[in-house]
Amino acid sequence: MPTNVKSSRFAQIVAWVAASIFVLGNFNATVGAWSGSILPLWFAGTQKPRRGFLWLLAISFLPGLLFGWRKIPLTGLDAALSYLGWALAAAVLGVLPFTFHRLLSPRLPGSLATLPFPLAAVAIPSLALALHVHAVSEIGLDRFFILWFAAVIVWLWNQESRATSPVFAAGCVFAAGCEIFRPYSGVALPINLLSSTTFSWICLGAALSLAVWAFFHPVQQRSWANRPQTIARLQSPFTGEPLQVVSDKGREALVSSSGERFPVRNGIPAFLKPEDLTGDNGKYNHLYETIGGFYDDTQRVFAAFRGLDVDSYFENYMNLLKVKAGDSVLETCVGTGLNFKYLPHGVKLSGLDLSAEMLANGLVNLRRWKMDADLYLGNAECLPFADSSFDVVYTCGGFNFFSDRAKAVREMIRVAKPGGHLMIEDETEEYVKSTYQNIPYTSSFYKDRKDAVTVPIDLVPPEMEDTHVEMLKEGKFYAITFRKPAAGLE
Ligand SMILES: C[S@@+](CC[C@H](N)C(=O)[O-])C[C@H]1O[C@@H](n2cnc3c(N)ncnc32)[C@H](O)[C@@H]1O
Repeated sequence: MPTNVKSSRFAQIVAWVAASIFVLGNFNATVGAWSGSILPLWFAGTQKPRRGFLWLLAISFLPGLLFGWRKIPLTGLDAALSYLGWALAAAVLGVLPFTFHRLLSPRLPGSLATLPFPLAAVAIPSLALALHVHAVSEIGLDRFFILWFAAVIVWLWNQESRATSPVFAAGCVFAAGCEIFRPYSGVALPINLLSSTTFSWICLGAALSLAVWAFFHPVQQRSWANRPQTIARLQSPFTGEPLQVVSDKGREALVSSSGERFPVRNGIPAFLKPEDLTGDNGKYNHLYETIGGFYDDTQRVFAAFRGLDVDSYFENYMNLLKVKAGDSVLETCVGTGLNFKYLPHGVKLSGLDLSAEMLANGLVNLRRWKMDADLYLGNAECLPFADSSFDVVYTCGGFNFFSDRAKAVREMIRVAKPGGHLMIEDETEEYVKSTYQNIPYTSSFYKDRKDAVTVPIDLVPPEMEDTHVEMLKEGKFYAITFRKPAAGLE
């Protein structure tokens, strides 16, 4: 049974207060000193390291040039170039701590993940000073707490407020509070007894130690060789041949007897052909490759501003699925795996998606939620699974804009076991028009659509059983549920 989406006033108030603080930070230097690093640090974490570095560099360097062009010395080309060079060097040094944090933080356990940013933000300018790069000024001890506070806030947000160490989180916020009120209270933290230079060297040593530790403790990827049951239900999506695992210099791949080779990258087998990224699939894939890093956060922030309870938002359609412990479940268009959290424990989870970026963030989610799932890069219209592999097959949120929706439904039915439950859930035309077509970035993807969205009930073959359409969230979403006949299909 679908539930009503519950409201959450508390989340809504917190969202508006937080937004107000960020806006205030642009006008008030004290507030800005505390809030100013939080958004860039969050943003760096949502991007691939190089792309994040370039974006932050552009954001910190170009506006300065645009608004401060009068400061550029016009006494000669050399002077102007020298000024620009130093300005660029200062911007690079300012962005490096964010990139260092992006590279290191995901590899560090628990609350240690908060340290790379403040350590690097103290160490890098000090090192630059020691090397006589005078484009920067030394960062004082106070800044460490301010930046550490930013890292803790972003870490708590990424942990969905489930701090692995509440004592640490409370301690950090307390230390930050002492720093904020120090000018008024005269309370000095013991750290202030250290000289800036000593403290900088300590930070440099600590940052390097963390980097070395992370280098020797890479994130372990699961091996496919020791999962014979999973491999047994895989097949080439193009020839239907069974697959087996081979390993070459530590790199795994799935191969078929006719020589097809599907590489396993970062623990995810890739079943895509270039043709899979043509038509609508290619167009929307570009969208998800770009927004994959902050897809989850956008959902959380939108829900909070609108005062919606996030869990009941997902339960609204996930409760329509009939899943029991022990079932094998496949979600096509799994994205970052957000729906997995709403399935019962003890379910064998598989997910497939066209976007490598969404899946990469899905792996991070699974580690964070301590869940296990097999993820695949592939096209929902051409599934890499043998017939009758899953007890439950469903798709949420991607179906409307597949290049070939009828083929995708046939594939879902093929891989479902006889008697298996299926669900197709997506947005209605009303939602696409009122939301996606009104958001500046997404509107460009949706404005030249050939057809309006219709509930695709005509694509469900008449021989399916218990076919049912449910309109959800005041008609903004539809969900079609049905069952593959237990006697199998002709
Ligand atoms: C709106 S997201 C939904 C993600 C997830 N199901 C959820 O509910 O949070 C749509 C997803 O569908 C995926 N997708 C779109 N077309 C696809 C296709 N042909 N095959 C597989 N995945 C596809 C996109 O890459 C994207 O991750």
